[in-house]
Amino acid sequence: MSALLGRDLLSSADLARAEYERVFATATELKREFGETRRHAAQPLAGRNVALIFEKQSLRTRVTFEAGLNQLGGNALHLGEGIGFGVRESVSDIAHNLERWIDGIVIRTFDHSIATELADEAKIPVFNALTDDEHPFQALADLLAMREHFGSLEGRVLTFVGDGNNVYHSLALAGAVLGMEIRLAHPVGFGPNPTIIARAEKLAAANGGQIVFGRDPRELAPGSDALYTDVWVSMGQEEQSHARLAAFAGYTIDSELLAVAGPQTVAMHCLPAHRGQEIATDVLDGPRSLALEQAENRLHVQKAYLLESLGR
Ligand code: CP
Ligand code: NVA
Repeated sequence: MSALLGRDLLSSADLARAEYERVFATATELKREFGETRRHAAQPLAGRNVALIFEKQSLRTRVTFEAGLNQLGGNALHLGEGIGFGVRESVSDIAHNLERWIDGIVIRTFDHSIATELADEAKIPVFNALTDDEHPFQALADLLAMREHFGSLEGRVLTFVGDGNNVYHSLALAGAVLGMEIRLAHPVGFGPNPTIIARAEKLAAANGGQIVFGRDPRELAPGSDALYTDVWVSMGQEEQSHARLAAFAGYTIDSELLAVAGPQTVAMHCLPAHRGQEIATDVLDGPRSLALEQAENRLHVQKAYLLESLGR
């Protein structure tokens, strides 16, 4: 029986190293089979239903969860605004109803505590499709893409350039568990959540990883295996756009920064991208970009996790 059976995935700190390896192995097998025939011979999730609750916009996460469930024989139920999540009915009442009918819940919301409350209340697994604090399936897809490119993760250096946001938090936690060095170059006032970083530092110390901070991307870039960036204005921060665009000037991943990093360095972005802001178009579309591999891997890691958690 899989150690992941029935398990939520709310934070990148929820998985131990062996569990990351297990998800990577299952994802790799699913990716191979899907790559050959664009379908899976077995339909292990036949008869299983998973609700998708999205309180923020999404392309990749929404499509890959829905398509992934369908490809494995399962069914995705989109619960749109019609359910009045937490407004018409409390989070706990929704959890206690859903668990009577279906097998799992995917949620993209603002406050991370809403996802944890849903998971605490529901007897069925809850999968974090992005909160203000974390994006664990993104980190799984990203680190699988790095593993495929470099052959291994332990000791690899990923330098995140820009905002210490949800995507960075999950990469820091996952990288720490996997014994990587995760650097962050960020301007004053846009650092990560100290509680999450304390957790990442503890995990890094236990697993041979390292969490490193700096201001100047040019100082942190040399020796990096990957330069990673994300938008400067995350969903929910739109009213801070003006201040953020000013603060992040100089934090663009461009061909100059990639050259400073080294000939081995790849460029990574979770997408959607703002070309010309956090990443230059020639880098995003260039031969050293892993962005579309990362996006593709969302499908494979999520299918793998759904299989492990919901049972084959
Ligand atoms: N990277 C990612 O989560 O994309 P979406 O916001 O489009 O789902
Ligand atoms: N940090 C971004 C990631 C989008 C996938 C956001 O939260 O909007």
